[in-house]
Amino acid sequence: MNDEGECTVTEPIISPEVVLRADRVDLVRDRRLLLDQVSFEVRAGQHWALLGPNGAGKSTLLRLLATYAHPTRGTVDILGHRLGRVDVFTLRPLVAHVTAHHPLTSARTVREVLLTGVTGTIEIPQRWQPSEVDLGRAEAMLALMGLTRLAGARWPTLSQGERGRTLIARALMSGPRILLLDEPSAGLDIAGREQLLASIDDLRARQPALATILVTHHLEELPASTTHALLLRDGRAVAAGPADEVLVTDLVSACFDYPVRVGRRGGRWTATGPADRAEQAGAAAAPHRAG
Ligand SMILES: Nc1ncnc2c1ncn2[C@@H]1O[C@H](COP(=O)(O)OP(=O)(O)OP(=O)(O)O)[C@@H](O)[C@H]1O
Ligand SMILES: [Mg+2]
Repeated sequence: MNDEGECTVTEPIISPEVVLRADRVDLVRDRRLLLDQVSFEVRAGQHWALLGPNGAGKSTLLRLLATYAHPTRGTVDILGHRLGRVDVFTLRPLVAHVTAHHPLTSARTVREVLLTGVTGTIEIPQRWQPSEVDLGRAEAMLALMGLTRLAGARWPTLSQGERGRTLIARALMSGPRILLLDEPSAGLDIAGREQLLASIDDLRARQPALATILVTHHLEELPASTTHALLLRDGRAVAAGPADEVLVTDLVSACFDYPVRVGRRGGRWTATGPADRAEQAGAAAAPHRAG
């Protein structure tokens, strides 16, 4: 009721659908605990960063979420389906997994590589013909990832950044609800990285219900559109939640077991070495400069 005693109607708060849920996930391989009680939840429209040092278990977790592994203990629910109780082949077109390892050896064009996203194969299957809808979607995805000019360019001639954008466009061909990106900007120069991050920001703006998880070691490689973060160390979640609460000096330092200072400028994140070290170096250098 308001001050006048009238009933006011408030809009119900509809929270976006949970598209991924990991609940106390353990993963054991060769008697090693690679994931240790990992729990988190991703909703439609959220964009997660998955950060952690080498060997933390980031790629292992991503493979599991992409249905290529099963938890030893705990549960994983993907779009409401429990892993282990669902035919993974029906889920895979909806959960796109992009890694730099794409074993294509032939000189396919960018457009052809996109079309293999429809068939879910590396090569275009013999006697398969794309439909008009497939061809139209390929043009749309080429445009979305800024590849229209390169549609006829051949895979072996592409730069690493162009390959990365091609593989994301290919992953989008099946109309996924979840996009998992394992180190998409690894090996790119600054221009390539910034172009890729702009494409990812653009994609997220144009497909607002898409949920994404992006793996990286570097805070500088996070797009400004990142909403949440999961910090992983030795297979354990150090922290998981909204980016502004998780990407902070103390938690990132604990995750990498190294004192870094986390900053945010223009929506992007930075991580720098401890200020006292830089100051000490400056102090040590000062008498030398003066003398
Ligand atoms: N099939 C497997 N059997 C045994 N150990 C494995 C297997 N797959 C991965 N590992 C180990 O699990 C750990 C986590 O590997 P993972 O590739 O997930 O790490 P990561 O966080 O992606 O590291 P990086 O940043 O170097 O890519 C590593 O110690 C790795 O050697
Ligand atoms: Mg990895």
